[in-house]
Amino acid sequence: MLKYKYSLNLRAIMLDKELVLNGIWFKLSIAQNPCMEALIMSIEEKIQELIRLNKEAELGGGEKRIEQQHQRGKMTARERIDYLLDKGTFQEIDKFVLHRCTNFGMEKKKILGDAVVTGYGKINGRLVYVYSQDFTVFGGSLSEAVGNKICKIMDLAMQNGAPVIGLNDSGGARIQEGVMSLGAYGEIFKRNVWASGVIPQISVIMGPCAGGAVYSPALTDLIIMVKKTSYMFITGPQVIKEVTAEEVTPEELGGAITHNTKSGVAHFAEDSDRAALDRVKELLSYFPQNFREKPPILECNDDPERTDKSLNNIVPTNPRLPYDIKDIITTVLDNNEFLEVQRRFAPNMVVGFGRLNGHSVGIIANQPKVLAGCLDINASVKCARFVRMCDAFNIPLITFVDVPGYLPGVNQEYGGIIKHGAKILFAYSEATVPKITVVTRKAYGGAYIAMSGKHLAADINYAYPTAEIAVMGPEGACNIVFRKEIQESDDPEKLRAQLIEDYRNNFASPYRAAEVGYIDHVIIPEQTRPMLIRALMMLKNKKASIPERRHGNIPL
Ligand code: HXC
Repeated sequence: MLKYKYSLNLRAIMLDKELVLNGIWFKLSIAQNPCMEALIMSIEEKIQELIRLNKEAELGGGEKRIEQQHQRGKMTARERIDYLLDKGTFQEIDKFVLHRCTNFGMEKKKILGDAVVTGYGKINGRLVYVYSQDFTVFGGSLSEAVGNKICKIMDLAMQNGAPVIGLNDSGGARIQEGVMSLGAYGEIFKRNVWASGVIPQISVIMGPCAGGAVYSPALTDLIIMVKKTSYMFITGPQVIKEVTAEEVTPEELGGAITHNTKSGVAHFAEDSDRAALDRVKELLSYFPQNFREKPPILECNDDPERTDKSLNNIVPTNPRLPYDIKDIITTVLDNNEFLEVQRRFAPNMVVGFGRLNGHSVGIIANQPKVLAGCLDINASVKCARFVRMCDAFNIPLITFVDVPGYLPGVNQEYGGIIKHGAKILFAYSEATVPKITVVTRKAYGGAYIAMSGKHLAADINYAYPTAEIAVMGPEGACNIVFRKEIQESDDPEKLRAQLIEDYRNNFASPYRAAEVGYIDHVIIPEQTRPMLIRALMMLKNKKASIPERRHGNIPL
């Protein structure tokens, strides 16, 4: 019996009683032509056909390319989604979408779903939207159709207030589609910006990402890269060689370590696809679904009143000696768990997530072990961006301060430390989430104000007895204030030492600031955890706002 098989690939689509074949329309009337009955598929056959099409779509660019993907140590787009989402929760959308390009013979090269897999599902029981670029299909490049699929997911995520996770593995704009693919990127960028601060957006870079494929991630909240298999660059080594004659490998130019250490574009570098996807799950646990909600509160089995005597000895009494601020952070947080963000970039500033009594908190801290914890350009940008991300998503800020000041230097000045340093002032001042500060040792000058000082609307400011809060350090202050006296003295060195010691005892302490209420309480270090938790619980229902405006103008 003659059976007419139709397939989306052949572009022959049976629509009700009309048959569309290769663009030519045949009007058919079954009633007038009983032979046509034979052409109509039974429901069983239709279901089998659908199953076949589903299988075809799931193969993406085909077995050979899937094998190549595996040989490179990469999972496929679908394997990544399967691993990321709770088992059985993925619901795909737009599986049969096709590109519409007819240039360069592309009309003969169509793959169901094109170069991205999109849909929604759950991570730890919470709704997320996901898109996963398929490198086996035209190198994951972005056609108009791919762009439409991604935009549809982003629109749904915005309307329903849930995070978007982008798994990126793409050669950028699909060259054959010309301006259509550029337009598609523009639509995605616009949505990234509109979604910024509304829903969490996390990007995972899981292959060579070039051109437009790097700008969408750059507009999202966090970027996770996979070591050795992922790259980000606006133009690759070949073009760079032609334009600037510089020779550089893809890894050096835009590998995971480069973007985690040199550029600060990425926030995490993970060893494998799986590790990167695990990181997404971990990160999301600290975030609310959208800016209207608060982060989830986890059951806490770590005593909120837990004190720890080791904290009394972490900050050396000799102000010249370094220590690791992370020892304080991890001791204080629930179960000593601290998820550091941008660990390799600007290590003189430490930022990351933790929990106190089960509540998500964002930690910001100067690191006395590196550059004495000075604020330089990179540290300022790192700090300000993290503060704004936490504030956008109702994550309270806990700031540990040990900072001698902004880093002096010609390069810093030429690089714009004034405008970059100002970002910290801007970010803390506009943040309305609960803000709790602990000065562990130095808090001098502008950096004292910048690091969540009382004057930038911090809610509770604690200091350790080792704190030194003043306009500048004893040496600098005495050299300026007592210059004449020291010069004219019979024994300048002895006098200088005496004056420095007097200044240290009288001014480099927490008590001047406590006298005027800039420090709310001087605390014994071992009590840091209960003191932080009490303040955090007290501030649980904080409502604050800043003056109405269209938007601030942060110094960029
Ligand atoms: C169409 C593409 C493509 C693209 C890759 N492919 N990128 N097809 N458009 N942008 C195709 C290749 O032709 C190849 O097809 C398949 O994908 C796999 O690519 P390979 O080159 O074989 O893989 P690999 O050696 O791993 O190199 C991957 C790559 C490289 C580094 C991504 O393909 C590359 O450099 N692509 C171009 C990157 C680029 O310049 N993009 C910028 C586009 S402009 P076959 O069939 O041969 O296997 C842009 C502007 C947006 O994005 C601006 C917005 C601000």
